Amino acid sequence: MTVEIARDVASLRAFVMDWRAAGLRVALVPTMGALHEGHLSLVADAKRRADRVVMSIFVNPTQFAPNEDFGAYPRTFEKDVEAFTAAGGDLVFSPEIGEVYPPDFVTKISLGGPAIAGLEDKFRPDHFAGVATVVAKLLIMAKPDVALFGEKDYQQLAVIRQMARDLNLESEIAGVPTVRAKDGLALSSRNVYLTLEERARAPLLHGALERCRKAILAGEEIATAVARAEGALTVMDFVIDYVAACHAVTLAPVASAADGPIRLLAAARLGATRLIDNVAV
Ligand code: PAF
Repeated sequence: MTVEIARDVASLRAFVMDWRAAGLRVALVPTMGALHEGHLSLVADAKRRADRVVMSIFVNPTQFAPNEDFGAYPRTFEKDVEAFTAAGGDLVFSPEIGEVYPPDFVTKISLGGPAIAGLEDKFRPDHFAGVATVVAKLLIMAKPDVALFGEKDYQQLAVIRQMARDLNLESEIAGVPTVRAKDGLALSSRNVYLTLEERARAPLLHGALERCRKAILAGEEIATAVARAEGALTVMDFVIDYVAACHAVTLAPVASAADGPIRLLAAARLGATRLIDNVAV
């Protein structure tokens, strides 16, 4: 048995309306495909929260800068459908670009708050406008009771929560803990870009954040703990974009543990691959 596939908004809405008419709860798991265990944990969580699970698979062009990997982004549609089927999903929504962005499409969501925290936004200036626009569209198209996002992209999750609240979107936004390889590396579709040697070093990013977390909990000054994490990564040839201690909801910088709850977030490049990760303190 395989899942249903909807290629246009009308078909997606027909499925969802039928389910709603039958009194069923609907969850949406937005993805860009290239599924890994992290995505499947979103599906597992979605199944606990709803009766039917829709997964969108759409590599969203508006969240990639011209110098980024839109063209090269891994596209594994057949395998994704198989994995989603095995995970017990119900419907894949996989539109063509023109279905989401018709030629006369001009609207973009303008963001503030966590979207301008000086983290990902500093290095990918138009990224969150593209993410927020497509997620708002997906939530309006599918009208799910709940939509699930991984905590791995923590700033993205904070931006989507804020956007859904500000725009009175009715869907609940649920964050799901990061799934990690045994050595601690956060699973990501982009990990396939790592060479074998880089893959062996990549878990050091999570290790540095974990040591930073423990040092802060043990009473060390946040600035000192963050500087040590940066030093440890630089020595191992990571090119750091940021290591930051932020308020877990607003993503404003925090200087002392009393300003928490704290989230530590980091982004660094290993060769051609950019890794991001975060931990709760
Ligand atoms: O996290 C992702 O895969 C994407 O940013 C999302 C939320 C599916 C929007 O394109």
